[in-house]
Amino acid sequence: MFRKFLSFQLLASVASAINLTVASNGGNVSSPLMYGLMFEDINHSGDGGIYAELIQNRAFQGSLEYPSTLTPWEPVGGAVLTLQNTSVPLSSALPASVNVAPRSSAQRSTIGISNPGWWGIDIKPQTYTGSFWALGTYKGQFTIKLQSNLTSDIFATVTIPSSCQAGKWVEHKFELEPKSAAPNSNNTFVLEFDSTSGSVNFNLISLFPPTYNNRANGNRPELMAALKALNPSFLRIPGGNNIEGDVYHYPWRWNETIGPLTQRPGRPGTWGYGNTDGLGLVEYLNWCTDLDVTPVLAVWSGMYLGNDIGHILSAEALAPWVEDTLNELEFILGPTTSTYGALRASLGYPNPWPLKYLEIGNEDDLYTNGSTTYAEYRFKMFYDAISPVYPELTLVSSTGDYTAVGGSGANATYTDYHVYTRPDTFVSMFGTFDHVSRVHKTLIGEYACVQGNLKNEITGVNWDLPKFDWPVWVGAVSEAIWSINAERNSDAVIGMSYAPGFQNLNSYEWTVSLLSIFKYSHANPTQPDLVSFTADTSQTVLSTSHSVIELFSNARYNATVPVTSDTSYGPAYWVAGVSEPGAYTFKTAIYNATESVPFNVQFTGLKQGDKGTLTVLNAPDGLSAVALEEGVVQNPVTKKVTQLVAGSGGAFSFELENYSVAVLTT
Ligand SMILES: *[C@@H]1O[C@H](CO)[C@@H](O)[C@H](O)[C@H]1NC(C)=O
Ligand SMILES: *[C@@H]1O[C@H](CO)[C@@H](O)[C@H](O)[C@H]1NC(C)=O
Ligand SMILES: *[C@@H]1O[C@H](CO)[C@@H](O)[C@H](O)[C@H]1NC(C)=O
Ligand SMILES: *[C@@H]1O[C@H](CO)[C@@H](O)[C@H](O)[C@H]1NC(C)=O
Ligand SMILES: *[C@@H]1O[C@H](CO)[C@@H](O)[C@H](O)[C@H]1NC(C)=O
Ligand SMILES: *[C@@H]1O[C@H](CO)[C@@H](O)[C@H](O)[C@H]1NC(C)=O
Ligand SMILES: *[C@@H]1O[C@H](CO)[C@@H](O)[C@H](O)[C@H]1NC(C)=O
Ligand SMILES: *[C@@H]1O[C@H](CO)[C@@H](O)[C@H](O)[C@H]1NC(C)=O
Ligand SMILES: *[C@@H]1O[C@H](CO)[C@@H](O)[C@H](O)[C@H]1NC(C)=O
Ligand SMILES: *[C@@H]1O[C@H](CO)[C@@H](O)[C@H](O)[C@H]1NC(C)=O
Ligand SMILES: *[C@@H]1O[C@H](CO)[C@@H](O)[C@H](O)[C@H]1NC(C)=O
Ligand SMILES: *[C@@H]1O[C@H](CO)[C@@H](O)[C@H](O)[C@H]1NC(C)=O
Repeated sequence: MFRKFLSFQLLASVASAINLTVASNGGNVSSPLMYGLMFEDINHSGDGGIYAELIQNRAFQGSLEYPSTLTPWEPVGGAVLTLQNTSVPLSSALPASVNVAPRSSAQRSTIGISNPGWWGIDIKPQTYTGSFWALGTYKGQFTIKLQSNLTSDIFATVTIPSSCQAGKWVEHKFELEPKSAAPNSNNTFVLEFDSTSGSVNFNLISLFPPTYNNRANGNRPELMAALKALNPSFLRIPGGNNIEGDVYHYPWRWNETIGPLTQRPGRPGTWGYGNTDGLGLVEYLNWCTDLDVTPVLAVWSGMYLGNDIGHILSAEALAPWVEDTLNELEFILGPTTSTYGALRASLGYPNPWPLKYLEIGNEDDLYTNGSTTYAEYRFKMFYDAISPVYPELTLVSSTGDYTAVGGSGANATYTDYHVYTRPDTFVSMFGTFDHVSRVHKTLIGEYACVQGNLKNEITGVNWDLPKFDWPVWVGAVSEAIWSINAERNSDAVIGMSYAPGFQNLNSYEWTVSLLSIFKYSHANPTQPDLVSFTADTSQTVLSTSHSVIELFSNARYNATVPVTSDTSYGPAYWVAGVSEPGAYTFKTAIYNATESVPFNVQFTGLKQGDKGTLTVLNAPDGLSAVALEEGVVQNPVTKKVTQLVAGSGGAFSFELENYSVAVLTT
């Protein structure tokens, strides 16, 4: 009895190996876009996020939804701060400014304003580039400082003479060079002057650290590096919901996000705060250039968020927006002899940007009459107007299906499919793309595992219930299986991007528009993100999902190759590809295994003694997450690299634990 029990145990712990034979050809060419990125201006991923501007509310921009405010500026030296529309505005786009005045005319001292940045300012020994516009008659000096908010430490200071001229806004430029790093990001920016000669108005007060590729008005280097590490191929811009506009009916307008910052009014974003639009169309395209990725540009297609009266434009009302898209395309692609091509050149960009993909709208199947109007006229109007002028541009429909029909009568060839779900559900969706049309192609523009499994139930997300705070390991494993599913069908699935991409972990402190959250968003909108961050550049959280994408995206291959197996999928899921004869890539992920899984993988043409490299990611348990705990990033994801040697017949043998995500290259 005892012996029998023991031998049963031994038998059970040595499971029968999964024997796979990988062919050398006969698969499908892989999409060069397979792994990409999606940007959504949520949780201060743009302003206060990847856009490197350090000053919060630099230009007092306001809108119907988010009126101009002085928040978070504070007076220094007892100054009186007043928000004003001066009779001479800085520009029609930036009419409001702050008037900084002494408390009484008798006051003789240094006064000024301070700004806490986007919940802190990171200070390092490097050059900070700043500027501000001033209106007044002041003839003295301006002093600019970076100082601690907790101690009396001043990390950098510079004094510049005033160039003020009565009745005229004058720009002042400066640089700050801290000699040492601040111990934390609890720092403020201070701008001071001598109050003897009265008040001064300030606007567009800006400060940038060094940016990625040293671009003026550019992006935070460490966040760009976090994206570059993913070896991405595309970037979906300028957002999903963010292009649509909420109850205030204010969609993203390309032409109000270009040119000098003084010409950009900003707009009410969709996610609870106004956007400065300092990160505008040109900056988005430069971001693509800097990461060497292809832009997937989205334009608004006539559906506002929500189901309020008039949330879908009639064909007549939509017509100017189609015209506007043609203008935008001319700005990006047109010759410098065209109206908007000339405008591009005047901004310093004589050469067109390499735009190949244009998405018409975002999730246009949502809300009453979304799908029907999209299929009946909205997609068609864009298709009819754009495809004759830009036949080489691929138009992507936003409904995740192929019901939208273009002018020629042909269905949209590409569609953008979004999925947010639970681990079991992602795994159960393996095979989703095995039988879809190869004529029409799918871009998985948004995917993420956002909620935990429900007992014995394969079901979608309940948006009204809490989601994971951070992407958890079991979710990342299920996303790996979803990615394998897509890679296996990379003749049908052109690419995929996790969403949302970023969040500023302090953004919850921002006043959220109750209206937009209550009416048009979900009751529990907090979602796990690919990359989370704070003002402190050492606190960047690269999620479990980031680690999986980094592994898979850096292991690309030209074409899939057939794999024959004596075992069906589950608990192991796999895909194999080849780049050149003998150079194979094998990807696998293990889910729900009751014991570790042995593999024998034989690659056609390889022989005994050939070498391979096995990289395995795992974590202590399914709910492990990369997280910021008491200011320090905790990363439980383990990465193990093993050199393998092929045994007889060129087979590689190895064993993987539950929840492993692995890549074997030869
Ligand atoms: C894999 O091959 C080995 C050795 O030939 C064999 O013992 C094992 O049963 C095979 N596995 C399966 C699942 O058939
Ligand atoms: C290639 O695509 C076809 C469908 O067009 C699919 O049936 C086949 O499994 C794919 N081949 C590989 C190796 O993935
Ligand atoms: C400035 O003008 C705008 C537009 O007319 C108005 O909405 C805003 O309230 C004014 N702000 C101030 C501080 O007067
Ligand atoms: C500065 O300190 C005040 C008071 O403690 C706090 O409210 C504010 O958030 C701090 N600012 C920064 C940048 O940390
Ligand atoms: C700055 O310090 C204040 C007071 O200690 C604290 O409340 C706040 O969270 C800190 N902010 C940052 C960005 O460190
Ligand atoms: C941008 O384009 C829209 C639509 O063509 C137009 O109404 C608006 O005035 C333009 N804005 C600017 C700043 O040119
Ligand atoms: C949807 O379309 C129908 C038919 O055109 C119309 O009667 C209805 O008002 C529309 N609903 C909304 C919310 O737009
Ligand atoms: C477009 O796709 C739909 C759904 O697959 C199909 O019913 C319809 O016949 C297609 N139309 C054309 C013109 O191919
Ligand atoms: C994983 O195992 C659990 C528990 O046995 C089961 O409910 C679930 O359906 C399994 N998931 C998948 C995708 O097989
Ligand atoms: C992200 O934004 C949503 C919607 O505005 C908000 O409810 C949530 O608290 C934010 N999350 C964080 C971490 O700030
Ligand atoms: C893989 O791609 C490279 C570069 O495009 C090409 O030279 C090579 O022939 C391709 N190999 C296969 C097996 O398709
Ligand atoms: C693997 O994970 C599943 C839950 O998804 C669990 O049921 C199973 O016991 C785990 N296997 C091992 C060997 O830990």
